[in-house]
Amino acid sequence: MNASCKKWLEDKLAKIEALESYAPEKTTENVAKQYGLSPADIVKLNFNENLYMPRAKLVELLKEVAEECDLRLYPQEEEEKLRKAITEYLRLQQGCVAVGNSSDEVMDRTTRLFLERGDRAVTFAPTFSVFRYCVKYQGAEYVSVPLREGFTLDAEAMRKAFTPEAKLLYLCSPNNPTGNQFGLDAVEALIEEFPGIVIVDEAYGEYADYSVVPLIDKYENLVVLRTFSKAFGLAGLRLGYAVANPTLANAVNKIPAPYVINIVSLTMGRKLLENVGVMRQAVAALKAERGKLINALNEIRGAEAFDSRANFALFNTSKPYEDVYVNMLKRGLIIKKLGKLLMYENCLRATVGLPEMNAKLLNALREYLGD
Ligand SMILES: Cc1ncc(COP(=O)(O)O)c(C=O)c1O
Repeated sequence: MNASCKKWLEDKLAKIEALESYAPEKTTENVAKQYGLSPADIVKLNFNENLYMPRAKLVELLKEVAEECDLRLYPQEEEEKLRKAITEYLRLQQGCVAVGNSSDEVMDRTTRLFLERGDRAVTFAPTFSVFRYCVKYQGAEYVSVPLREGFTLDAEAMRKAFTPEAKLLYLCSPNNPTGNQFGLDAVEALIEEFPGIVIVDEAYGEYADYSVVPLIDKYENLVVLRTFSKAFGLAGLRLGYAVANPTLANAVNKIPAPYVINIVSLTMGRKLLENVGVMRQAVAALKAERGKLINALNEIRGAEAFDSRANFALFNTSKPYEDVYVNMLKRGLIIKKLGKLLMYENCLRATVGLPEMNAKLLNALREYLGD
């Protein structure tokens, strides 16, 4: 390597190093080791995973998938079969689905396809951080408009950010980490007015009151992201998809490399859609517990929990969030620390766990905050 090439590589690597990406979080094993606990006793409520999907049922379906799939072959037809199953699940017309390795990957792909260096991407704050990383990787400008009190959209302020350079608008609804779903009219007005592509992230769509999916027939600039990671309990398989009008879906389907989604994930996704009742039961059970968890959190002196249309609850505490977080870790409870969100100083987020997990969290918070 000559000197100028070395210099180029050094600069390039420094720029790559400076790019923000998803920060690793504590794992069950980390916490067990650090606090001298057994991994079996750790309750992990920091990733909004779905503990309501019966693990035994997933194993049963996966065994069927293992029998059906020939792992020696490229998945030539499985992607189309999954697209067809999603089309039926959401009652779409043909050609509206693009699948990917997680909805994050589809988001990244959509960002790379539609956002160029110097363009602008607009969203609100607080919201899911992965969109920001995708935008920054593209060398584009990231503009985020604070939500108003009660986590409502500040549509007027957002509209002011809709300059000619604005090519992508990201609306996470139900929103992570706040948990609320924005009013359909407010969301639709933004889709209508935005001068570029609008991504509505419905990762938590199955837990919500409504979906914007039917709007894809009306708006040619709308991409709705959905995932198998949450309601379907397949976070480990990394399977997600976008729904859009056929022209846009076709564009989002464009990937340079062939067969990037593995045959097991594709087939397992289809299996779960064939057994959609399992997911629906799990969602109903979680929603019942979600209400109980939020009510119980609100009864704790020193905690204020917010309503949720997702599979987690956001709450603000009277004690510093970092102290609450560490105290929970010591007791084997992993939750997500968020800190100051808008006017709320000490925010934390917990997945709605199984009843015994929620009880453990509530007891721990009662002891720590209520003392
Ligand atoms: C809003 C939102 N979108 C997407 C994801 C990730 O979904 P996937 O596993 O499909 O990448 C998450 C996960 O926490 C999320 O909160």
